[in-house]
Amino acid sequence: MTEIISHNEAETEEAGARLAETIPANVSLVALYGELGAGKTAFVRGLVSVLSPGSRVKSPTYTIVNEYVLGNKPVYHFDLYRLAGKEDVYSMGIEEYLAHGICISEWSERFEDELPEGSVKVMIDKLNGSTRKILIELN
Ligand SMILES: Nc1ncnc2c1ncn2[C@@H]1O[C@H](COP(=O)(O)OP(=O)(O)O)[C@@H](O)[C@H]1O
Ligand SMILES: [Mg+2]
Repeated sequence: MTEIISHNEAETEEAGARLAETIPANVSLVALYGELGAGKTAFVRGLVSVLSPGSRVKSPTYTIVNEYVLGNKPVYHFDLYRLAGKEDVYSMGIEEYLAHGICISEWSERFEDELPEGSVKVMIDKLNGSTRKILIELN
């Protein structure tokens, strides 16, 4: 378990980039947790800056998944907010995506604690103002 205190958006992006640089090869999902405005998408921008350099990260709230293809393997960026729960997550075919590339999910609460094998959990909590506590749990 790693704990990082971030004081601004740039530091949260930096934490994402650092995780991407050190991520074990067997990790297929980075599962993000945290309320609206916690900084999940900011963290994803950092991850993608390393995993698919040059890709523009956009929140996939309406499309559920965005694909970034400028790295060694495709990166699939999910926003699970609109899904009801784990049945929805698994019936949208997440396992296909896991097999083909690296997945990153916002609103991982929708997995209801049934994360796939090879997941890393990233929990972002708003402390005060622009301070965030980022917990990274490599299983
Ligand atoms: N330490 C911080 N880390 C990340 N975002 C921060 C931080 N402090 C303030 N913010 C602001 O909070 C918002 C986070 O937005 P976003 O990354 O889209 O969150 P989420 O995807 O969790 O809803 C942005 O407006 C950002 O400027
Ligand atoms: Mg977001």
